[in-house]
Amino acid sequence: MPAIVDDPKPGRDLEILVDAERIARRVRDLGAEISDDYRGKPLRLVGILMGAWVFLADLIRQLDLDNVSVDFLGLASYGGAAQSSGEVRITKDLDLSLEGMDVLVVEDILDTGETFHYLRGVLEAHKPKSLRLVTLLDKAARRTRPIRADYVGFTIPNSFVVGYGLDYAQNYRQLPDVRILSPAPNLGERP
Ligand code: IMP
Ligand code: MG
Repeated sequence: MPAIVDDPKPGRDLEILVDAERIARRVRDLGAEISDDYRGKPLRLVGILMGAWVFLADLIRQLDLDNVSVDFLGLASYGGAAQSSGEVRITKDLDLSLEGMDVLVVEDILDTGETFHYLRGVLEAHKPKSLRLVTLLDKAARRTRPIRADYVGFTIPNSFVVGYGLDYAQNYRQLPDVRILSPAPNLGERP
């Protein structure tokens, strides 16, 4: 596996942080834990686009449950901010009602927590029976809101990561591992 892939900004390095095999093992364990917790209950997964669809696609196939449904909510951060402000724009609304449902939000990464803080308000307005969060990655040290995920794949250091669905400027989502992009992008350039 080359250390450098086709980088739209040449000169950036992509070091593996979590390789595909470790991700697969952890996703299997998360699937087993979630299956135990929701046994006998209908579960609705709500994937947050764009970053979470690769994780969701793998996670759902590890769920040993009879009644699982899926919906997606599309979010985009308002561009230009060097720091997540939680000011997000809904690019795709939910298609299904959440009322009375046991809902598990599927996120790629929890960073400051501002996005999920906003999202929780939006989803709670739909009156789910329960609302939990699974995130593949958690940059716990960066939190500015008291948000805790119910299920965490990996707690990671404060680096900018791409791959396994996560992007920088819409690139790198196809990489099977989670990689550290360095030098880290100036988040002001984040679209
Ligand atoms: P938060 O509002 O700071 O928690 O930001 C969460 C969102 O920021 C995630 O859903 C990602 O879209 C994006 N994000 C945060 N850190 C990274 C990263 O290291 N790589 C790619 N996207 C990131
Ligand atoms: Mg995201």
